[in-house]
Amino acid sequence: MKISTRAGRIEPFYVMEVAKAASQLAREVANSSRPMIFLNIGEPDFTAPEAVQEAAHKAIRDGATQYTQATGLEPLRERISQWYAQRFGADVPARRIVITAGASAALQLACLALIDAGDEVLMPDPSYPCNRHFVSAAEGNAVLIPTTADERYQLSADKVSQAWTPRTRGVLLASPSNPTGTSIHPDELRRIHEVVKSHDGVTLVDEIYLGLSYDDTYGHTGLAIDDQIISINSFSKYFNMTGWRLGWLVVPDALVPVVERLAQNLFICASTVAQHAALACFEPDSLAVYEQRRSEFKARRDYFIPALEQLGLSVPVQPDGAFYAWADCREWCARLGVQGSWDLAYTLMKESHLAVTPGRDFGTAQTADFLRFSTASSMAHLQEAVARLKALAG
Ligand SMILES: Cc1ncc(COP(=O)(O)O)c(C=O)c1O
Repeated sequence: MKISTRAGRIEPFYVMEVAKAASQLAREVANSSRPMIFLNIGEPDFTAPEAVQEAAHKAIRDGATQYTQATGLEPLRERISQWYAQRFGADVPARRIVITAGASAALQLACLALIDAGDEVLMPDPSYPCNRHFVSAAEGNAVLIPTTADERYQLSADKVSQAWTPRTRGVLLASPSNPTGTSIHPDELRRIHEVVKSHDGVTLVDEIYLGLSYDDTYGHTGLAIDDQIISINSFSKYFNMTGWRLGWLVVPDALVPVVERLAQNLFICASTVAQHAALACFEPDSLAVYEQRRSEFKARRDYFIPALEQLGLSVPVQPDGAFYAWADCREWCARLGVQGSWDLAYTLMKESHLAVTPGRDFGTAQTADFLRFSTASSMAHLQEAVARLKALAG
C-alpha cells in the first residue's frame, strides 16, 4: 500500500524497540532473583490521588460523559488559570487556555495552527523526539541545533539568532527538558523570545514538566514573560495522569479561535471524564499530595545522580526538574568494550536486568555517548539499580 510522504517523514521511535525487548526479557526473568528494573520509562510511578479518582467515578456515575466544548470545561480552564496565578504568579486568563488530549494533542494543534509546508522550527539537540515529529506532521522541518552542557542543553538567544534563516518560523523549546531535566534560565528565554519577535516568529515552550522543579532559579513559566509565548502543558507529569490523556495549550488571544476550529474538527474535545476528574487536582488535599510526591522525586534525584557519578556515569548538568538523568556513558562503553549507548543499553538489559534509554532518539549530536535514566521509579528500585551497576562495573 502506498503511504503518504508525510507519514514516511516520521522516523521510528527507536527506544520503543529497546522497551519492547526489555518487556520481553522482563517476562522471562520475572521469577528470578533479579527481576527487571525499568529506568527507561518517562512517566511517574504514582497514580492520580484519591480525590481525582473519586471525581472520575462520580462523573461516570452521574452520566457526565457527553462531549464538552472543544476548548474544554469552563471550570477546568478557570482552575488552571488560578493555578498559574497562585503557584507561578502569572496572569493567564482562562479564555486563552485550551484543554487537549495531553501535551501531544496540544503540540499537534500548535504546529498545525502555525506551521506551513517547508517552514523551519529550531530545537535543541538533544530534545524529546516526538516534538520534531509534530513539526514534520505539519510538513515543517525541525532544525536540531547541538547544545552543550554549559548551555544546560538548551538554546541560547545567540544560537537562535545565528540559526535563523528566511525559512525559520520559530523555536520549540522544552523547559525542563526531556531527556536532560534541565531548564532554560528565565532571562535567556526572555532574550530568545526577543530574537524570535524581532523576526516575527513564534516561541513555543513545552512546559509539560512545569511544577516538577527542584530549584527556585528555574521552575517558572514562560507565560510570565509575554502573552505571545505559546505554552504546552499536561496533566501527565506533575499531576501523575499519563494514561488519562489530558493536557492544555495556552495561546495568544488571536489564536484561540484558530485552535478551537482545529480542535473541533480533529478531536471534538478531550476526554470528558478525565476533565471532570482533573478538577479535583486543584483541591488542597490533592495539591498537598503532589507536593509530597515532588519532594520524593527530588529525594530520588539527590540519591541517584551522585551514585551514577561515583560509578563513572557522569551527569554533566544537575537536572533542576522532571525525573531524568542524562548520563555520559563513554567511560562505560570503553570499559565494557561496547560501541555507544545503544549497545550499552542492551548490555545493561541482558547482564543486569536494567532497562534504560539510549540517547539515539533524542538527536544526533553526541547522543551515542549518553544514556537517559528515569528516576520515576521507587527509591528501592533505584538503590537496587545502583547495586547492579556496581556489580557489573566490578
Ligand atoms: C517533553 C515532552 N513533551 C510532551 C510529552 C507528551 O506528553 P503527554 O502525555 O501529555 O501527551 C512528553 C512525554 O513524555 C514529554 O516528555
